[in-house]
Amino acid sequence: MSHLTIRSTIALSNGVAMPLFGLGTYQVMVADIKKTLLSALDTGYIAIDTASSYRNEEAIGNVLKELFSSGRVKREDLFITTKASTSEHGYEKAMAGCEGSLKRLGLDYLDLYLIHWPGVAGNQPSAPINSTIRAETWRAFETLYEQKKCRSIGVSNYTVAHLEELFKHCKVKPHVNQVEFHPFLYNKDLLAFCQGNGIALEAYSSLVRADKDSFQDKVLTGIATTLNKTPAQVLLRWAIQKNVIVIPKSIKEERIKENANIFDFVISDQDMLALDGLNCDRRICWNPYTVA
Ligand SMILES: NC(=O)c1ccc[n+]([C@@H]2O[C@H](COP(=O)([O-])OP(=O)(O)OC[C@H]3O[C@@H](n4cnc5c(N)ncnc54)[C@H](OP(=O)(O)O)[C@@H]3O)[C@@H](O)[C@H]2O)c1
Repeated sequence: MSHLTIRSTIALSNGVAMPLFGLGTYQVMVADIKKTLLSALDTGYIAIDTASSYRNEEAIGNVLKELFSSGRVKREDLFITTKASTSEHGYEKAMAGCEGSLKRLGLDYLDLYLIHWPGVAGNQPSAPINSTIRAETWRAFETLYEQKKCRSIGVSNYTVAHLEELFKHCKVKPHVNQVEFHPFLYNKDLLAFCQGNGIALEAYSSLVRADKDSFQDKVLTGIATTLNKTPAQVLLRWAIQKNVIVIPKSIKEERIKENANIFDFVISDQDMLALDGLNCDRRICWNPYTVA
C-alpha cells in the first residue's frame, strides 16, 4: 500500500488505467475554476471529475485548452470524467448530451462518462418508467464507447438492484460506479458487489463535505492524531486502501495539497477496522434507494 502515489491507477475491467485520486469540482464556481485546476495540476493531480449539471465544463475546457496549447500538459496525461444529467436520459438525449459535454470541455474523447443518477428528470423516483428510459441511456453509452468517444463508461448512484437490472440487458458492463462512500456510510455490500463484478467503485463526498460531526468524531480524530495526519487525510486514505477511487473537492490551495498528501502513510488493519465501525448510514447527498 505505501507504494501508492498521486499518479497511481487501477485497471478498469477493459484495461483502461484510471487514477485512484482526482479532483472533484461540484460547486466549484466558474470564477474559481482556473486557480483550482492550476493548483491541483501543480500538486500532481491528473484526474478531474465534473458533470454537465455542474455548469463548469466550459470553464474547465477553457483552462484545458490553454494548458494543451502551451504544451504544459498533454491530453493523454489527464483523466477527465463527466456525467450525463437526469435530463440527458434516453438514447437520443444521451448521445447529444455527450456531444455537448465534449464540445464544452473542448475534447475529442472522454476518459469516463457516467450516468449521473438512475432517475429521469420529470418522473417520480418510484415510477417504473425510470428503468425503461435508463436502459436506453445505457444503449447510447455503449454506442459512444464503441465509437471511442468515451474510453470507459459507467454509472453513478446505482444500487445493487439498479446494477443487477442493467446486467440483464447490457452488452458492456459499467466500468465504474460512483457513489457516496465514506466510513460513516460504509456500504460494504455495494463495495463487494461492484468489486466482485469487475466494476471499480469511485467514492464521492469522501470528506463527508467536511461535516462537523464527522470531522470531530473521536475515533477518526484519535487515529489522525496518532498518524500525525488530518481527519480529511485519514478519510481519503481509508478509501484508497480499499481500492476505492477518491475525488475530494476543494478550491483552497492548502487543502488541495493536504488532500493529496496521503501517500506517505498507511492505516493499520486495526485502525481500518475501527474506521469501518463508524458506519451509521450518514448520507449527505441524494438517496438512490428511492429510485425504482
Ligand atoms: N455522482 C454524484 O452524484 C456526486 C455527488 C456529489 C459529489 N460528486 C463528485 O465528488 C466530488 C467530491 O464530493 P463533494 O464535493 O460532495 O464533497 P467532499 O469532497 O467530501 O467535500 C468538499 C467540501 O469539503 C471542504 N474541504 C475540502 N478539503 C478539506 C480539508 N482538507 N479540510 C476541511 N475541509 C475540506 C471543501 O471546502 P473548500 O472548497 O472551501 O475547501 C468542500 O466544502 C464532487 O466535487 C463531485 O466531483 C459526485
